[in-house]
Amino acid sequence: MRAIEVRDLGFRYEGSQDWALMDVSLEVESGELVLVLGSTGSGKSTLLRCLIGLIPHFYSGDYRGTVRVMGMEVASTPVHRLATRVGMVFQNPETQIFSTSVESEIAFPLENLGLPRDEMERRVEWALKRFGLEGLRRRNPAELSGGQKQRLAIATVTAMGPDVLLLDEPTSMLDPLSAKEVLELVVELCREEGKTVLVSEHRTDLLAPHADRVLAFAGGRLVYDGDPRGFFSEQRLSELSVPRVVELYWMLRSSCRLEGPVPLTPEELESLISRWIGSGA
Ligand SMILES: Nc1ncnc2c1ncn2[C@@H]1O[C@H](COP(=O)(O)OP(=O)(O)OP(=O)(O)O)[C@@H](O)[C@H]1O
Ligand SMILES: [Mg+2]
Repeated sequence: MRAIEVRDLGFRYEGSQDWALMDVSLEVESGELVLVLGSTGSGKSTLLRCLIGLIPHFYSGDYRGTVRVMGMEVASTPVHRLATRVGMVFQNPETQIFSTSVESEIAFPLENLGLPRDEMERRVEWALKRFGLEGLRRRNPAELSGGQKQRLAIATVTAMGPDVLLLDEPTSMLDPLSAKEVLELVVELCREEGKTVLVSEHRTDLLAPHADRVLAFAGGRLVYDGDPRGFFSEQRLSELSVPRVVELYWMLRSSCRLEGPVPLTPEELESLISRWIGSGA
């Protein structure tokens, strides 16, 4: 089933001269893990806002085209209805946490959904366990580390049971170890929980090998829509953060004439180098 369908989408923020997105058409199948790339200001956050309904419901501006998520047309569906099928995690965990305990943070949006008490409790328990937050349930979220806060934000959104999860640079405020944990969770949400996941992320090392697709933006236009290997096989990536194995590959390719397809994992690079040494090139 098709989770997302975007046709000729354009958006210009009120008061702005330039279109933040222009002529964007794309489709995402259910269960896909999609990496959204592009340099700063290229339109990644704007796309995600269009998918969750923040645009056009909360941001004003010129809006063109159609966006459908889980069969709902975003522009004509109330945000509270969209919120039952689509969830979003933002860059800064500080701005998305409101409650005084971890468990009430997860429970709060469920209360707003009007779920029966036992279903609510079941979901809170599931999320605490699934996201490794059981031991922190009575802690004040303000006291958690950045990584724990981001895990809580993901748990809170996931407990609402969305089919589609959008994550806008979820690790940019985290240390490398917490970032790795959060990104591993993102992969699991797709592979184990069957969520459709779109993640905009500068740390591509961990996601590139797992992603089904890359959507790359430049100046508000979709400039690449395809598999990650195809994307990283092109040498027009200089302004983007590419996985370190990809960087190393291109260095070895230009300096030592290394041959073969671009690797996405250290293991793939290792076997490429072994074969290259074996061939005596
Ligand atoms: N709230 C806003 N009001 C006006 N213009 C905005 C607003 N948010 C973004 N823009 C503009 O829209 C364009 C796309 O921005 P967007 O935030 O979508 O890019 P991005 O790819 O997410 O960048 P970054 O990597 O810095 O997060 C930019 O020109 C930006 O200045
Ligand atoms: Mg952004």
